[in-house]
Amino acid sequence: MELFSTPRSSHFREMVTTAMVVVLIMVSAGGAESRKPRVTENLEYTARNCRAHSASVADFGAVGDGATVNTRAFQEAINNLSQFESDGGSLLFVPPGKWLTGSFNLTSHFTLFLHRDAVLLASQDINEWPLIDPLPSYGRGRDAPGGRFISLIFGNNLTDVIITGDNGTVDGQGELWWGKFHRGQLKHTRPYLIELMFSTDIQISNLTFINSPSWNIHPVYSSNIVVQGITINAPLNSPNTDGINPDSCTNTRIEDCYIVSGDDCVAVKSGWDEYGIAFGMPTKQLVIRRLTCISPTSAVIALGSEMSGGIQDVRAEEILAINSESGVRIKTAAGRGGFVKDIYVRRMTMKTMKWAFWMTGNYGSHPDSKYDPNALPVIQNINYRDMVAEDVKMAARLEGIAGDPFTEICISNVTISMAAKAKNVQWACTDVAGISSEVTPKPCDLLPDQEPANARECDFPTDTPPIDNVQLQTCSYSRRLQLGF
Ligand SMILES: *[C@@H]1O[C@H](CO)[C@@H](O)[C@H](O)[C@H]1NC(C)=O
Ligand SMILES: *[C@@H]1O[C@H](CO)[C@@H](O)[C@H](O)[C@H]1NC(C)=O
Ligand SMILES: *[C@@H]1O[C@H](CO)[C@@H](O)[C@H](O)[C@H]1NC(C)=O
Ligand SMILES: *[C@@H]1O[C@H](CO)[C@@H](O)[C@H](O)[C@H]1NC(C)=O
Ligand SMILES: *[C@@H]1O[C@H](CO)[C@@H](O)[C@H](O)[C@H]1NC(C)=O
Ligand SMILES: *[C@@H]1O[C@H](CO)[C@@H](O)[C@H](O)[C@H]1NC(C)=O
Repeated sequence: MELFSTPRSSHFREMVTTAMVVVLIMVSAGGAESRKPRVTENLEYTARNCRAHSASVADFGAVGDGATVNTRAFQEAINNLSQFESDGGSLLFVPPGKWLTGSFNLTSHFTLFLHRDAVLLASQDINEWPLIDPLPSYGRGRDAPGGRFISLIFGNNLTDVIITGDNGTVDGQGELWWGKFHRGQLKHTRPYLIELMFSTDIQISNLTFINSPSWNIHPVYSSNIVVQGITINAPLNSPNTDGINPDSCTNTRIEDCYIVSGDDCVAVKSGWDEYGIAFGMPTKQLVIRRLTCISPTSAVIALGSEMSGGIQDVRAEEILAINSESGVRIKTAAGRGGFVKDIYVRRMTMKTMKWAFWMTGNYGSHPDSKYDPNALPVIQNINYRDMVAEDVKMAARLEGIAGDPFTEICISNVTISMAAKAKNVQWACTDVAGISSEVTPKPCDLLPDQEPANARECDFPTDTPPIDNVQLQTCSYSRRLQLGF
């Protein structure tokens, strides 16, 4: 991909280079006369925990021919390996091949590892996708009222789950679902590629996700999460193919990811209107760094629109945005309640954007008519600094809610170069309050410029977020190669 020729991206490539060793071992199996060559491939990977036990999905009858349905083999393998939950944990290896499968459920103290030439192909048979209940903080499915198709890789109530590989691929084969969505034929909400609910100690790393039916990676009601070295690719016109959506999650780190999608690259959420308010579980302590995003119709980082449980303490830095609608976007509405506060973003480089900054207080989109229009969101302490943007149509569109202004907005050291065909008005601000320092073009009067003498940098916390205490170690898995002699 041409992006990887930029200096910043070759750094990214270095970060995710895999370590792989092939060892040829001559073993004497049962005496000198019966010498047989055994070839193993030693796969090294980085993980929060290594595992004492392992198996290959092929041991459970799976066939990687792209045609055999392997749903049962995956589920039987994981059920079998779950016996090691309290005995050192286990790893399920997916060898080279195309492994067609419907949804399966993970277990605790468990690693799913995809070889770099392994592709998990999501089944296009709708019967392979059982229905599950709507999320309690949403009250209904997002595509349709009622239940949801379960995600391809699903987990509920788990501890210590790792989904990794040396850049193997998960292919959602989403065309079937996008077509049904566009034709209004969905009776239930589309599946995601990964959903982990009510779980803790999660790692999702070094994999490529393509063609998701809808969102790609959805940790919800979970904590202590590392998402690292992920490539996500969905057609730019595919509906709702958000990249990574931390939803009512605490203590999450998303880093070194490259996302091209038909919707937001990272969308931070916490439930929808009266359901989200009642559930009351915020997303907080979220770190996003070294993200490259292409999102022509949406945001690099969206906060909301479902934010009714609150979003607090988000720190994002070293972000590269290319050909995207907006850099950071806050989306909310009367009826959402909740809050978006203590948001810190710095060192974002933007190239070819509609709006560098966008805040929307009239997003609408309610789950049903039972929402409380007087449930007003609190949007407060939003800090953007040290950014350069080029080829931008309009610097900012900041629209709070009448009678409920978005406050303590701070923008400093931001240089925005306008596109040849830019809008005449570069800043449009209503119902917002804050300050600006060293920003061009000159911001709106609601964000008064602090003269150079009083120039101040917007805040960015200096303490270490707790998720940065998670260390990854080197683990290895040794796989037998089948040789024809
Ligand atoms: C992983 O695979 C994707 C798709 O083939 C590729 O674009 C990306 O560069 C790879 N990532 C790494 C770190 O090799
Ligand atoms: C996975 O990604 C991390 C960082 O993104 C990198 O350090 C590591 O070498 C990669 N490869 C493996 C096989 O873990
Ligand atoms: C699964 O687990 C049982 C014992 O718990 C074991 O006997 C069996 O061989 C395992 N593997 C397969 C492929 O079923
Ligand atoms: C996976 O978990 C979901 C929800 O807990 C359940 O409805 C489904 O039946 C499980 N699938 C299997 C194969 O056990
Ligand atoms: C969650 O997991 C724990 C430990 O495995 C178990 O005791 C508990 O019953 C589970 N709860 C639910 C709701 O599945
Ligand atoms: C202003 O932002 C640019 C771009 O991120 C950065 O290189 C520069 O160091 C910043 N200046 C100050 C004074 O922080």
